[in-house]
Amino acid sequence: MATERTLSIIKPDATRRNLTGKINAVFEEAGLRIVAQKRVQLTEAVAGAFYAVHKERPFYNDLVSFMISGPVVVQVLEGENAVLKHRDVMGATDPKKAAPGTVRAEFAESIEANSVHGSDSLENANNEIAFFFAQTEILP
Ligand code: TYD
Repeated sequence: MATERTLSIIKPDATRRNLTGKINAVFEEAGLRIVAQKRVQLTEAVAGAFYAVHKERPFYNDLVSFMISGPVVVQVLEGENAVLKHRDVMGATDPKKAAPGTVRAEFAESIEANSVHGSDSLENANNEIAFFFAQTEILP
């Protein structure tokens, strides 16, 4: 198994409800190490660029508005098979379909306000980490 890094975002619905620590506990208990973390207010330009892959989707404008509705916590998580492991503990995009015990099943409010983001491939993880962090900010 390979040690990987993935990009995680704790979204505004979760920071608003003071859930950062509870969500981080789920990640750490799954064997993911938080090797970088910062709380930031995204701008429309930054959130729009981050989700540019979804630009043509009907939910894009609402998603960008939601992501700038409050602070987010952006993180780099490291561990064995971190990309897939993180996706597993996040649960399905729609919390109604997320497995019990996953972050989204436990905490998400809706398919939009679904508490967490996680990179969906190692390639995207590398790009998304570089979008938010300098290498010097990542401390294993
Ligand atoms: P997506 O990349 O499909 O899901 P995931 O976050 O699980 O990788 O979608 C990105 C985000 O867009 C998703 O977390 C929430 C939002 N979204 C909606 O608001 N409505 C939708 O119908 C979908 C599919 C996504």
